[in-house]
Amino acid sequence: MIKSRYHISENVLIAPKTYQLVLAGEADVEGEFVDIALPGFYLRRPLSVCDREDGKLTVVYRVVGEGTKALSEMTEGTELEVLTGLGNGFDPEACREEALLVGGGLGVPPLYLLAKELKARGKKVTAVLGFNKAEEIILADAFKAVCDEVLISTVDGSVGVKGFVTDAIAAAHPAFDYFYTCGPMIMMKVVCAALEGPGEASLEERMGCGAGFCYGCSIQTKNGPRRVCKDGPVFKKEELLW
Ligand SMILES: Cc1cc2nc3c(=O)[nH]c(=O)nc-3n(C[C@H](O)[C@H](O)[C@H](O)COP(=O)(O)OP(=O)(O)OC[C@H]3O[C@@H](n4cnc5c(N)ncnc54)[C@H](O)[C@@H]3O)c2cc1C
Ligand code: FES
Repeated sequence: MIKSRYHISENVLIAPKTYQLVLAGEADVEGEFVDIALPGFYLRRPLSVCDREDGKLTVVYRVVGEGTKALSEMTEGTELEVLTGLGNGFDPEACREEALLVGGGLGVPPLYLLAKELKARGKKVTAVLGFNKAEEIILADAFKAVCDEVLISTVDGSVGVKGFVTDAIAAAHPAFDYFYTCGPMIMMKVVCAALEGPGEASLEERMGCGAGFCYGCSIQTKNGPRRVCKDGPVFKKEELLW
């Protein structure tokens, strides 16, 4: 865990209530998520790393409460104290040749960095990205620039396959030897049940310290209690009890 100061180099609306935040500072730090201190808020806010390049960290977040609302109002140049190097992320080495990425809503951003890591290792990557409706689609072009194939599903059918990510997968039958999923818990549960073969899922849990000390984010797994912030947030499919 590293505590660093970053400044906002970009904080732009990319979809309804959804912002892309680019933080300039030390970006060569591993870690699945960052924990951002917001002035006036006791607890930090955990957000997944979407991209990490050229001294910049990118996260994509949705405004859901007071903390993310305050963040959305911060302008370029604002300094933020950020914990980095947090969490065990997706394992790109677990895939032999063909990876399937399954993201839903705000679970899509962390899969972008994973897609880049998989492509850098020469893997074939298919991404299935699910949203409620066309206006909520994020990062589709970024994924198309990196992945071999990108399938979109929308609940209202305004873009791509009508329905859920599992409908898009059932329609296209993409080949894969390992899958990675991030999104709403119910989506990941259904994806893990529907997909045969090994895979991993990135969980979300309310956090206190964000770094393994307070046990506030503990969940039960088949291997006993685990801390989402320190032992996860990514867990193997076979460990999860849901
Ligand atoms: C590992 C991890 C990665 C995440 N990545 C992203 C991401 O990339 N993009 C994104 O939009 N959101 C992400 N979230 C959810 C995000 O942390 C919450 O939406 C955010 O903290 C809400 O803060 P708030 O003050 O606006 O909401 P409030 O509801 O006012 O927050 C009150 C408290 O509850 C916590 N909280 C509320 N919702 C969640 C939640 N879903 N998960 C965890 N804590 C929550 C807050 O951190 C805060 O401590 C992630 C959560 C975790 C645990
Ligand atoms: S949030 Fe404190 S141990 Fe996970």
